[in-house]
Amino acid sequence: RAVDYEENTMLKLKFEARKTDLSIETTIGVEISILDINDNPPRFQRNLFDISVDEETTQGSHLLNLVAYDRDQRGTPNSTFHYEIKSVAPNLPDTKFAIDESGSISFKGCLDHEVAEMFTVVVEAKDHGDVVSLSSSTTVVIHVEDGNNHLPTIKDEIGSSPLRLHASDQDAPNGRAWRAKYTIQGDTGEHFKIKTDPDTNDGILTVIKPLDFEAGAQVELTISVENEAPYFSCKVREKTPSGLWKVDSVVIEVEDTNDPPLFSATVKEAALEENAPVGTWVEKVTAVDADSSQARDFVDPAGWVTVDPQTGDITTSDTPDRESPHVVNGVYTVVLHAVDDGKPPLTGTATMNIYVTDQNDNVPQPTVDYVDVCLSDGPTTINITAFDLDANPFGGPFTFELLGDVDRNWKLNPSYAGLVKEPSVSAGPHTIDLKISDMQGVFGVYSLSVTACDCSVTSNCRSRTATKAVSGAMGIVFALLLLLLCKEESIFLETRDSSGETLLVSNIETPGTDCQVAA
Ligand SMILES: *[C@@H]1O[C@H](CO)[C@@H](O)[C@H](O)[C@H]1NC(C)=O
Ligand SMILES: *[C@@H]1O[C@H](CO)[C@@H](O)[C@H](O)[C@H]1NC(C)=O
Repeated sequence: RAVDYEENTMLKLKFEARKTDLSIETTIGVEISILDINDNPPRFQRNLFDISVDEETTQGSHLLNLVAYDRDQRGTPNSTFHYEIKSVAPNLPDTKFAIDESGSISFKGCLDHEVAEMFTVVVEAKDHGDVVSLSSSTTVVIHVEDGNNHLPTIKDEIGSSPLRLHASDQDAPNGRAWRAKYTIQGDTGEHFKIKTDPDTNDGILTVIKPLDFEAGAQVELTISVENEAPYFSCKVREKTPSGLWKVDSVVIEVEDTNDPPLFSATVKEAALEENAPVGTWVEKVTAVDADSSQARDFVDPAGWVTVDPQTGDITTSDTPDRESPHVVNGVYTVVLHAVDDGKPPLTGTATMNIYVTDQNDNVPQPTVDYVDVCLSDGPTTINITAFDLDANPFGGPFTFELLGDVDRNWKLNPSYAGLVKEPSVSAGPHTIDLKISDMQGVFGVYSLSVTACDCSVTSNCRSRTATKAVSGAMGIVFALLLLLLCKEESIFLETRDSSGETLLVSNIETPGTDCQVAA
């Protein structure tokens, strides 16, 4: 029979020599060594291996270890073998598989689920028999699991509900690399919540606490989207002849959830004197952020203050003016933001209401520039109104005073400051110097132009006059006042801005009977 080294490496025979009576004369043993021939290839444990690897696996990582065994005589070329990759399908330029002498499979370059979901690698083990060389092979199927190499992006078509945000993501649907996680920044009052619709990946924004219109007619929210799985990307830059290739890879691991910075108070009040010198300290604000240090920036409508980002001290950088349009009801509002250096950065917001205290830095002014007056036979009274930008007690009631030589023609009604035109006033332009003082005696002097004309001839005296005279105790205001008295009725000055004090009640002592232009 044929002998087989793999069955018995040695045959042991025992010979006995017997006498004629069959008793043993002598015994001899014979050992026969069986020489190996290379009749076994190296064999793998299995013909098929099936594994899954993550897409973000970095090149050079160990994927699988193959072991083969050759039953031929140990330590001889007939049982010595090596591994070799015979084929890879698909064969991609950016992914190259390799197996080392210990049977460990790895790759160079990048895996990309979107390019190849699966590789079929055939590995051969081949012995080094010198007469014949035998081999066998096994198949390794490598599935590439989809990783998060595509960031979700918010795509909102015009007309879609603002409460539903659509995100698109090129990673395989329904995995951690695809599922969207939305976060809201800027929702200081915690009025909103956003959750992910598991079917569509949409973000659904809901109001969970009523919004307060007084706190702001507009709320600005920043919504960001990320995936549950950390993001990574991999790109082959250079295929070096030996060792691993050069790749550009990015892996973002989320370690800390970033909390927004918080101000110690979301609304703060402070007082500031009008016309305070630049550099006046106003208030101090402090923001606390558990995660990291923060910078501050702020919305300062008139540019009056600066905030020291280190200390939070607010000081003036310009002269505050209570009469500025940016001051509403005496309050100047500055919105402060604390921004941390998280990614994305989060913002905490606080509102600073600065009460600007008033100073008497405005003189009273007449509300109208001119007056038309119709000629009449009797005296006629016209109301004059004035206003002062300063508030109480720096405004009205005002004191009016006629300056210059006007005794014959013009008077002020002492009980209620009405300008009285005497019948002696002739047709044509007149100038009246009027001093208007506020409660503190701060005054302006105005040269008012008054035109008297025959109202039966013309309905408007004004078109013919436009003289403007200047004077001013505080060197400030100019005004034109044209006065016109008419036949049987008084004409009252029209008050354009009723915020001022009405000084005079108009009245007609003796209604005129004609409206002739005096000679
Ligand atoms: C290996 O096998 C060959 C035949 O295939 C044989 O001639 C040779 O002697 C063997 N070598 C050893 C070291 O056993
Ligand atoms: C003029 O002033 C008097 C007194 O304040 C007031 O009673 C009257 O209604 C005023 N007339 C007009 C037309 O405003």
